[in-house]
Amino acid sequence: MKKLIAGNWKMNGLASSLAEIVALKGLTGSTACDIVVCPPFTLIDRAVDQVEETNISIGAQDCHAKVSGAYTGDVSAEMLADAGARYVIVGHSERRLDHGEDDEIVAAKTAAVHQAGLIAIVCVGETQSERNEGRAIEVVGEQLRGSIPAGATASNTAIAYEPVWAIGTGLVPTLEQIAEVHLSIRRLLVDALGADGRTVRILYGGSVKASNAGEIFSVANVDGALVGGASLKATDFAGIISAAG
Ligand code: PGA
Repeated sequence: MKKLIAGNWKMNGLASSLAEIVALKGLTGSTACDIVVCPPFTLIDRAVDQVEETNISIGAQDCHAKVSGAYTGDVSAEMLADAGARYVIVGHSERRLDHGEDDEIVAAKTAAVHQAGLIAIVCVGETQSERNEGRAIEVVGEQLRGSIPAGATASNTAIAYEPVWAIGTGLVPTLEQIAEVHLSIRRLLVDALGADGRTVRILYGGSVKASNAGEIFSVANVDGALVGGASLKATDFAGIISAAG
């Protein structure tokens, strides 16, 4: 399966940061991976201009579930498509925890992404206390079942397994722990989507860097990465992309 490497810039990036996308083009011309950079909303259309005719796509970090209306401050998936985005991250733990987004909201946003003809990267992941209680597989399974709407396919959906305790902390699960969760996600996807579930890409996210990416990509059912901090600098992000082949 072609790996998908997505960078999530979070609330970082000014016009000057577009230089990182320009640099990334120069560093990743020969990769076989699909590459996505998700800058803040304000940079999407300018970022799109930079990646024409390259293997880099631009994505967004969130969207509203509705197409339009009286939702001050929100942005719809249709608007993102109109701006040239091809992917939308939905249900990131920072949205779930800081903005109270539950599985139902995430499923509605994912459906909106599909409706707009874009690809959803749906995030799931347990907290440290849920893992300590031995509930990681159960929590991830529950989130996944609740967050994937009818109509999800391998071409309009990717899943990102991001343990909350591994995000921005430098902590990474063991390869066995990653393998166990990714296998459980794969089984659930096959149950829910049939044969298509076999080819939905399952990304790992949480403190991925060039130095640990190779071993993470060697784990069964790891089909790419969702990268936060290490996606901000083109050289760091390119190191991760080259580890994916
Ligand atoms: P990190 O973030 O790579 O900085 O840990 C990952 C994410 O939140 O998507």
